[in-house]
Amino acid sequence: SEDPPGQERRPLVAVDGVPLPQKTWENWAQIKAFQAKPDDLLICTYPKAGTTWIQEIVDMIQQGGDPEKCRRAPLHERHPFLEWARSPQSTGVAWADAMPPPRTLKTHLPVKLLPASFWKQGCKVVYMARNPKDSAVSYYHFLRMHQLLPQPGPWPQFLEAFMAGTVPWGSWHEHVRGWWRAREALPLLFLHYEDLKEDPGREIQRVAQFIGQPLVPAALERVVHHTSFEVMRANPATNRASAPRSVLDQSISPFMRKGTVGDWKNHFTVAQSEHFDRDCASKTAGTGLAFRTEL
Ligand code: A3P
Repeated sequence: SEDPPGQERRPLVAVDGVPLPQKTWENWAQIKAFQAKPDDLLICTYPKAGTTWIQEIVDMIQQGGDPEKCRRAPLHERHPFLEWARSPQSTGVAWADAMPPPRTLKTHLPVKLLPASFWKQGCKVVYMARNPKDSAVSYYHFLRMHQLLPQPGPWPQFLEAFMAGTVPWGSWHEHVRGWWRAREALPLLFLHYEDLKEDPGREIQRVAQFIGQPLVPAALERVVHHTSFEVMRANPATNRASAPRSVLDQSISPFMRKGTVGDWKNHFTVAQSEHFDRDCASKTAGTGLAFRTEL
């Protein structure tokens, strides 16, 4: 799956003020018109919040805790990525359209860009959030290795861009705040990466209950084991090992990088941390949202 030349690292293009990959922008009319179905389950995250992790958890629950069934295809083929497009592959929308229901879909879109049909159909949403400091660090390493998205530049410069929301999919704050409020309009389970790290069994059972497939203890144990960082890192159906180097160059940084809470401490200076905290405090004031940056 070699790319035709010219697809690499194109600048982002704003859709309603949100910087998105150029291919997403080119396909925007199709994405906007996407027809959700009432039994669609939408997995929604800001990039690097643990999307892959919650995708594998959801699939394991849906497959009754059978890891063999989850090996049927790599994750990005099991769950169409709604706004993704990369020729000559079919777009996320075309992929989803061809999939028999019930479908599980993935998106990074902020609330204001979600296709209208999801609201009309009242689709269930599983939203996963991760503290912004670890999200920024994870995003920085991801953009270093991702060959189709803009380079992050040096860490201090990337951190400013992250705070300003001039990174792919826009502002972390707007994303999290918007989806937090969306709980009032959609059946939405709001999860925290840090809670999942702290007590995966408890959080996985919450997900299972939310999607209407509660797990018996033995199955729950299998899901916890199979979705641990170590097992997912070694699993070709989740570690993106099959992605060509022209898309993800894992020699620069592995897709399954660290999977911890608090790696930001290895990247932020004290001054950067204080500056970041002040910026965050002003942007999340009054939302009732709180994030843990260590366990
Ligand atoms: P790090 O870069 O901090 O290691 P996404 O799937 O949204 O791109 O998120 C990727 C982040 O989730 C990476 O964070 C990755 O290591 C982490 N991750 C993936 N699977 C995980 C798991 N099973 N447990 C904990 N973290 C996981």
